[in-house]
Amino acid sequence: MHSITADQLPTLIQGGMGMGISHWHLARSVAQAGQLGVISGTAIDTILIRRLQQGDPQGYMREAMRAYPNQSFAQEIYDEYFIADGKPDDASFKAAPLPQVHMHSKRAQLIVLANFCETYLAKQGHQNPIGINLLDKIAIPNLASLFGAMLAGVDVVCMGAGIPHWVPEVLERLSKWESAEIQIPTTKDGVHASITQTINPDDFGVPQQDLKCPLFLAIISSDIIGKSLLRRTNERIDGFVVENYTAGGHNAPPRKKDAQSIDDYSEKDLPNIDRIKALGLPFWLAGSCANVNQYQAAIEAGARGVQIGTPFAFCADSGMDQQVRNDAIEAIRNNSVELTTDFKASPTGYPFKVLDIYKNIQRNSPCNERTCDLGYLRSVVESEDGSLSYRCPAEPMSRYAKKGGEDQISEDKICLCNGLMATCGVPQVRNGRPEAPLITAGDSLDEVSELVRIHEHYNARDVIDYVLAPVSS
Ligand SMILES: Cc1cc2nc3c(=O)[nH]c(=O)nc-3n(C[C@H](O)[C@H](O)[C@H](O)COP(=O)(O)O)c2cc1C
Repeated sequence: MHSITADQLPTLIQGGMGMGISHWHLARSVAQAGQLGVISGTAIDTILIRRLQQGDPQGYMREAMRAYPNQSFAQEIYDEYFIADGKPDDASFKAAPLPQVHMHSKRAQLIVLANFCETYLAKQGHQNPIGINLLDKIAIPNLASLFGAMLAGVDVVCMGAGIPHWVPEVLERLSKWESAEIQIPTTKDGVHASITQTINPDDFGVPQQDLKCPLFLAIISSDIIGKSLLRRTNERIDGFVVENYTAGGHNAPPRKKDAQSIDDYSEKDLPNIDRIKALGLPFWLAGSCANVNQYQAAIEAGARGVQIGTPFAFCADSGMDQQVRNDAIEAIRNNSVELTTDFKASPTGYPFKVLDIYKNIQRNSPCNERTCDLGYLRSVVESEDGSLSYRCPAEPMSRYAKKGGEDQISEDKICLCNGLMATCGVPQVRNGRPEAPLITAGDSLDEVSELVRIHEHYNARDVIDYVLAPVSS
């Protein structure tokens, strides 16, 4: 049973922002202001163990871990990763094994625990709903992430970056404490195939319980994807977030064949709102919706509300490292920064928006040396004997080629995992030097400038008040 309906959700959704940007504190602040706060579950397992190695200065991670229903596992993770005064700045973080389709139960449980903790913290201090954002494309951790978030009572699941038609079935089964499965895409003999991954709630040493079934908001870029999702889920979708290509993070590619740049987007790539409306579900528009006029236009077009990312990403409540945020805000305020939609950088193959303020540092960053040691964006290759290997086009090119990857695809790729970890304040350190941050943002940078002009240091509530300000007639 859902405890709320999509019609009861607020008009403003704070978009999920990985890695660690829409962390629990931002989501909680937004929920306390009466809107929908959304945590990002992406790579949150690595973020948890790094926060523990930083000494968890305010004790929040340990507070959440104390609430986890398998205390002996929480203790195991604490013993393995917690460092009382934090690791020395020039020491590297200890890493967990890379995620795999058939993970060791301890590795899967770390994902469950981390998603539990982030959701648990976001839900404290108010009664309003909290969402979790995951990406269909980052398939391997998704089952464990959803289970962990559901153990903490997550209310809404927001997922795009693919066609996540499997979500409603999985949510229903997990809510009844039944095992669930998904198909993880693979490549076999050079063609697309898939392999089954299963999760059984009984495997985590957690007492059996009925869990709340969260609402599912599918993030789509067109009515065609919406229609396909409705068909493939027997209409078990609660609403849509309709994101256009001006939004921060990854964007849907243009329809034009062999598109190379932002100039290849055209009117045809904008979602057709009348056709979205005809799908008959509540929807929220995303991408450049962060001011009063854009918000009003969305409502007039029939939307239930808007989803906003960029202004929240740079607010004082976000999980962005404070120095990185200050540098970015300074550059945005001085208009000395360029936002590019990079068609080649992301290992996912999707266009990815990058704010270029750390270009020079990135050139000399240890992550330029190409090490794939987090592995969230790896894809799976099945060999003839059924064994699995994993490859990411941003790993060392020779290694990628050895696993059958093409040089052409590998060229120009950057390691998003390590760059984004640095942005949320947990950079890996190699040979005494931290990885350089990588910032993504959407086109709503003018709104960030305006908020900084009004407030100097603005917070989540300021963003909400700014967008929902009464319109003077
Ligand atoms: C820093 C940043 C990270 C983002 N990461 C994700 C993500 O992990 N998953 C996702 O579905 N959307 C992600 N987005 C998109 C937002 O959730 C939101 O839909 C989008 O930012 C809305 O457009 P706006 O930036 O113009 O407000 C990200 C956006 C930003 C700015």
